[in-house]
Amino acid sequence: MKKCVSEYREDFPMLKQTMHGKPLIYFDSAATAQKPQVVIDCIANFYQKEYGTVHRAIYELAANSTLAYQTARLKIMRFLNAAKPEEIIFTRGTTESINLVAYAFGKAFIHAGDEILISEIEHHSNIVPWQILCEDRGAILRVAPVNDHGEIILEEFTKLLSEKTKLVAIGHVSNALGTIHPIKHLIELAHQAGAKVLIDGAQGAPHIPVDVQALDVDFYVFSGHKIYGPTGIGILYGKETLLEKMPPYQGGGDMIDTVTFPKTTYNALPLKFEAGTPMIAEVIGLGAAVDYITEIGLPAIQQWEHELLVYATELCNQIPGFRIIGTAAEKGAIISFLIEGIHPLDIGTMLDLKGIAIRTGHHCAQPAMRRFGAPGTARASFGLYNTKAEIDYFVESLRAITHLFH
Ligand SMILES: Cc1ncc(COP(=O)(O)O)c(C=O)c1O
Repeated sequence: MKKCVSEYREDFPMLKQTMHGKPLIYFDSAATAQKPQVVIDCIANFYQKEYGTVHRAIYELAANSTLAYQTARLKIMRFLNAAKPEEIIFTRGTTESINLVAYAFGKAFIHAGDEILISEIEHHSNIVPWQILCEDRGAILRVAPVNDHGEIILEEFTKLLSEKTKLVAIGHVSNALGTIHPIKHLIELAHQAGAKVLIDGAQGAPHIPVDVQALDVDFYVFSGHKIYGPTGIGILYGKETLLEKMPPYQGGGDMIDTVTFPKTTYNALPLKFEAGTPMIAEVIGLGAAVDYITEIGLPAIQQWEHELLVYATELCNQIPGFRIIGTAAEKGAIISFLIEGIHPLDIGTMLDLKGIAIRTGHHCAQPAMRRFGAPGTARASFGLYNTKAEIDYFVESLRAITHLFH
């Protein structure tokens, strides 16, 4: 057992790379996280020695693949403390999970005049699918405002809830500002109004322990690639009672029971929502990623990342002209910022030359940027592998850039 969480950075081969001749400092884990060797090995090993299809064949290779695939589902079930494996649906990512719910929940439950409530700082993935659904069904999208810190204004949120509200869709943690929303409270308020709740956990699941039963959440979604797993794999957790009532999202192989020309019947959960040959290696790789972070312990990861956030926030605030956008009391390890007189794109470009990777732009959250009067920001986001020494170099680099411009 390693003493400090960041000692696990040794497990990440990408972090041994250089960028422009400098050691790579990776501060863009909110966009996508780097992969530990165990995940890379797991995928390579599967393709080299164990590869076969799932569900469809009698030979041993396929039986082993199917077992590994279903074992990964059980790992995710335990990771979220879901009640049953049938409640875990594999998708391509958070975006597809939300689109699946918008389509299938929408078809089953949303009618003209119904309302869907989101917040004003959602990722586009948690805005646009609801807009498409509302347009399709004649429903209305309501938007809960945030205060100047980037926190949902609870009185306004409560006022927007009514018997017309059928679904509340809120991020667990804002990718643009870092705000951790009080999801347990929001879920209770929504349920009191009779609405179901989807939590976009893209920035939550990699950093905060999630217990879907304790939260009593109806849907919780996240992406494998942000949780140290492969790209192209995501999770939709849904309560079995709701998933049962929702029609399939896509038609094809695996999702059927019997097919005849007059009528086709559908497979049971979870396969009803997993049409076609799935992302087998990605699912198994995600299982390895979940094992990896479970072994380190999400509470330890959360604590370490919080320490990095507090450390970086304090040092950054001492840089002349530095302004953080998103100052919620409860924040994930994300610092969205502006420096007076320097365009975020210039900050990003000059940091890149120093080997530091950060994100710049609107972070797929244009309404959030608009709310804070910024066309975009620079954003540093931390993962379990980051260190205080990296933050020291980041701050030193920002000071040097500031001197060049002033
Ligand atoms: C809060 C949030 N929601 C949704 C997404 C979309 O995730 P993906 O692109 O993996 O589908 C992201 C990705 O940045 C995100 O940060």
